[in-house]
Amino acid sequence: MLSRRLFIQTILAAIALPKRILFANGLLSNNAFKFPSLDFGKRNGRDVYFNLNIQQGFSDIIANKKTKTWGINQDFLGVTLQANKGDRVHIKVTNHLHQTTTLHWHGMKLPANADGGPHQPIEPKQTWLSEFDIIQPAATTWYHSHQLHKTGEQVYQGLAGLFIINDEVSNAMQLPSEYGVDDFPVIIQDRDFNRDGSFSYINSMHDKMMGKLGNVVLVNGVIKPVLNTKKPLIRLRILNGSNARTYHLSFDDNRHFYIIGSDGGLLEKIVKSNSITLSPSERMEILVDITDGTSTTLRHKSANDSMGGMGMGMMNRMMGGAEDFNILQINASKIDKTQFKLPEKLASHPQINKKITQKRYFDLQMKMGPMMMLGNAFSINGKTMNINRIDEVVKAGSTEVWVVKNSSMMAHPFHIHNVQFKIISKPNIKPYERGFKDTVLIEPNSIVELLIEFPSYKDRKNPYMYHCHILEHEDQGMMGQFVVV
Ligand code: C2O
Ligand code: CU
Ligand code: CU
Repeated sequence: MLSRRLFIQTILAAIALPKRILFANGLLSNNAFKFPSLDFGKRNGRDVYFNLNIQQGFSDIIANKKTKTWGINQDFLGVTLQANKGDRVHIKVTNHLHQTTTLHWHGMKLPANADGGPHQPIEPKQTWLSEFDIIQPAATTWYHSHQLHKTGEQVYQGLAGLFIINDEVSNAMQLPSEYGVDDFPVIIQDRDFNRDGSFSYINSMHDKMMGKLGNVVLVNGVIKPVLNTKKPLIRLRILNGSNARTYHLSFDDNRHFYIIGSDGGLLEKIVKSNSITLSPSERMEILVDITDGTSTTLRHKSANDSMGGMGMGMMNRMMGGAEDFNILQINASKIDKTQFKLPEKLASHPQINKKITQKRYFDLQMKMGPMMMLGNAFSINGKTMNINRIDEVVKAGSTEVWVVKNSSMMAHPFHIHNVQFKIISKPNIKPYERGFKDTVLIEPNSIVELLIEFPSYKDRKNPYMYHCHILEHEDQGMMGQFVVV
């Protein structure tokens, strides 16, 4: 039998990083911070009507080149949608691309036919209407393409945006909430570029196995932007919108910040920290105190390799990349000397104390290196995604425990549609993972337990998805389907 060490070395040799066709020169630096515009839709009482166009355009991302990009109501990425708890939204999505796509409302509790997953494709020139009530609390959710086998590529082109939910609880709190003034979206994505300025997507075995990692990090489509502000306290709504990279975020002066929210909305109490880990599709809302009036830079520091050289640490580093990146510079100048107070308590989370009716077990599996070639490289419970197969049947309104095991050698961010769960157990769980979540990062050879209360929407025909949110893994089959009846 191969020794473990030799085994890992064999794999690493097989997936050695390709020579990047990296566009190294001419990257713009010191760019002004940009953010998507806010779209409130057209309101009529509690009914809110949105009109979205999925379109192609060109963007100035790197110097002297135009990058062909996709976006929603803009050239790259989507406009930020905003609505309130209690609203009924009516979203008309028209596809102006030359290929089929979808828009999925990630993090939203909603009827299966409104979900926008692979079962709601929008053909070119067609319009899809998604209608649902917003039944969940204030949160930073997002939306993105979910086209079967094409999600990675379509999100990479730009089909992703934020959907902010407000409610009375959050409005009553004195949190920074003026969009673009003291409340900023921070969509972090990594990209590679070809010499002509176009995005370079998968071009190696490494990209297929580890997921697509880019050498250039963008915030809202801008390289290393500089955010100038006079506000003493700012709120960052951080979305890891990357296909595969996990970020370990901290500030270069190691300052502490205040974590107020995760995927499903506000935490119960502020968590003070100087670093956070954010895997693909996870969101985190943080408050940054900049009354000291200096400049500080949010950056990604690659994980430490605790096993030295060729072990799990190595695999993890490869997922986050071996490099450190500066991501976003915040320049504080002429700070308003207004005082601010941080709320003692944030949201109170309803206790989930209903009877647990079912426990389900999931096992995330992947074949690595040369074994990938044998096919079905990515699977859950030994099954690779099949759009014609329903994997699980869940009772509407029930409470379940999902036990998810990662039997592979790399971490996978596991995501479930239509729910916000609580993590019951996870090795080394962080205080900021105690809130409502729709995605959890599962380390290699570990198990998490999730407590899930399913909404009462029923639909025998249309399934929801659960999957790894490394989009290349999802596209290659690490995904399953459940119906709620
Ligand atoms: Cu963010 Cu199934 O997706
Ligand atoms: Cu989702
Ligand atoms: Cu994965």
